[in-house]
Amino acid sequence: MQIIKTIDELRQIVKGWRKEGHSLGLVPTMGYLHDGHKSLIVKAVSENDKVVVSDFVNPTQFGANEDLSSYPRDIVRDAAICEEAGADVVFHPEPEEMYYPDSSTFVDMDRLTKDLCGKTRPTHFRGVCTVVSKLFHIVTPDRAYFGQKDAQQLAVIRRMVRDLDFGIEIVGCPIVREADGLAMSSRNTYLSAEERKAALILHKSLELGERMIQEGETDAAKVKDAIVTKMGTEPLAKIDYVELVDVETLEPVDTIKGQILAATAVYIGKTRLIDNFVSN
Ligand code: PAF
Repeated sequence: MQIIKTIDELRQIVKGWRKEGHSLGLVPTMGYLHDGHKSLIVKAVSENDKVVVSDFVNPTQFGANEDLSSYPRDIVRDAAICEEAGADVVFHPEPEEMYYPDSSTFVDMDRLTKDLCGKTRPTHFRGVCTVVSKLFHIVTPDRAYFGQKDAQQLAVIRRMVRDLDFGIEIVGCPIVREADGLAMSSRNTYLSAEERKAALILHKSLELGERMIQEGETDAAKVKDAIVTKMGTEPLAKIDYVELVDVETLEPVDTIKGQILAATAVYIGKTRLIDNFVSN
């Protein structure tokens, strides 16, 4: 497995693979890989001849007061995980390789990016869409793999690929959880022992909502209220949002029928965590 730091070098490798007729999968990440990322890589390896994992803490998707400088990084450990999972290349560019000092072109989106995480992170999805577009142009994958944990990101990427005719298959992969139910996230490392325990309230509250739907509740407001009330039992949790929305359009739903996404973002101390479920 190779660690590649420049766009030119990666393009050369991809060109060679294409000449040999290989199919190509891309797993975009910001590094500090956990078992959730690993599951994406393993799936990509099982479905493509060659797999590139990008490992890049993308500055344009962080707001001014967010955790860009403190975001955890460990490329040596990441490379070992990628190799074990069967990736062929880790693309690990410096920010200067990905952005010109006067970069002036960005990919932005109406509608899907305004609510949920977009409310508190108004420039986040512009950064995500821009860097993912760049990665798609550089790697030209057949398939790209994203975790369902970032449900809004997944819907946004699907919409971008549709609207801009990228012709890339977007593969959404299930949330991977710790044994006690906490959704895996690189940001879990910010939690103190006490906060780590408190963070379980996200999954527990969502589980309650999911159970209500499974038992036949169709009133979205009732399910939302139950999730919010349960979340409120944890003193360290401060809700950013709890919403029940259409899984594709991300528009709020009143009545639960078909696939809906129940998504939440919650501050546990200073750490903002997200989690969700999709009901059928
Ligand atoms: O999900 C992430 O880690 C990032 O948002 C992504 C898709 C790698 C873009 O930087």
